[in-house]
Amino acid sequence: MATERLISPTETSPVEEHANWALRPKTLDEYVGQPDLIERLLIAIQAVKSRQDAASDIEHVEQLEHVLLHGPPGLGKTTLAHVISTELGTKVHTTSGPALARGTDLVAVLTRLQPGDVLFIDEIHRLPVAVEEFIYPAMEDFRIDVCLDTGLNARTVQINCAPFTLIGATTRAGLLSSPLRSRFGITHHLKYYAEHELVHILNRSANLLKMSASDQDSSTLSQIAERSRGTPRIANRLLRRVRDYADVRADGQLSDSIVDAALQLEGVDAIGLDDLDRSYLSTIRKVYNGGPVGLEAVAATMNEDTGTLEDVVEPYLLQIGFLARTRRGRMLTQRACEHLGLEKLPASFTEEPLI
Ligand SMILES: Nc1ncnc2c1ncn2[C@@H]1O[C@H](COP(=O)(O)OP(=O)(O)OP(=O)(O)O)[C@@H](O)[C@H]1O
Ligand SMILES: [Mg+2]
Repeated sequence: MATERLISPTETSPVEEHANWALRPKTLDEYVGQPDLIERLLIAIQAVKSRQDAASDIEHVEQLEHVLLHGPPGLGKTTLAHVISTELGTKVHTTSGPALARGTDLVAVLTRLQPGDVLFIDEIHRLPVAVEEFIYPAMEDFRIDVCLDTGLNARTVQINCAPFTLIGATTRAGLLSSPLRSRFGITHHLKYYAEHELVHILNRSANLLKMSASDQDSSTLSQIAERSRGTPRIANRLLRRVRDYADVRADGQLSDSIVDAALQLEGVDAIGLDDLDRSYLSTIRKVYNGGPVGLEAVAATMNEDTGTLEDVVEPYLLQIGFLARTRRGRMLTQRACEHLGLEKLPASFTEEPLI
């Protein structure tokens, strides 16, 4: 159920991914937001390019250092990998941690690379340990040590691969082993986007979707941005939903009231909370007096899966300060009660944050 949520930051279907593809920025110039990261990348890419121009010897051409991007889903990690390879003028090869089940899968990928190419590994935290060991020499010296035979006959064969740039993406940087993490030259945490950045992204998307100029009014777009949970993927999805609603109910004309009506129909409120968020918060308030309560207890009451609540409901509620995680369990905050019109928490209610 949760994966079908309109405000889910993860991809919901291949059709959506296809629609999103057209909305992706192609160059660093077009990329909105994450200014620190973009600046770091601009400098690194320009330095590499100028050194490449100066180098006379093809053998010693430098490539961009390996880049690790981590942060919540839907913030543009995959998009950035493509942008970087476009800027470098090289090809990007895409794979993911779970797809590289054995060392030989990695060898197959690495031997296909041309000098300077980008290898993008999504969900790199799910790379099996056995494959991780293969990747260390590849990242450092562009060689793969393959072990043939076992026991007395065991021998290692070295296979060289072209110098490449690895771009790793993960939503769970904490799960990455420290030897792997330390082999990345550029590590960056992607942050949630500010409202004006989302308005900018929505504006660009509205243009690409060929929506009329009056629909790109910034007050209408900022209404969508406010409900997007700081995430471009959600912003684009809401925009498409609102466009459908406007086409059917308002001759294609967007207005504040149309945005409101369209998103209310989808159960998304003024700050981007949906039914699942609201039922989670009100369960804690009504059944558990605002907490502290263990996640398992809330999940059992709601008949939901604990993993779903932890991964898709809690992160945003924690971020906007509606929920506190304490040593003794989850607790609501006064702000959450105010927003949902729930009974106020008693004055004696104190929050004791987790270390
Ligand atoms: N800076 C941006 N400017 C414009 N659009 C963006 C930007 N960042 C992301 N998007 C849009 O958001 C969508 C999701 O981005 P992307 O697929 O790169 O996220 P992700 O971080 O890889 O997510 P996941 O962790 O789920 O793989 C893209 O299709 C793109 O349209
Ligand atoms: Mg991605």
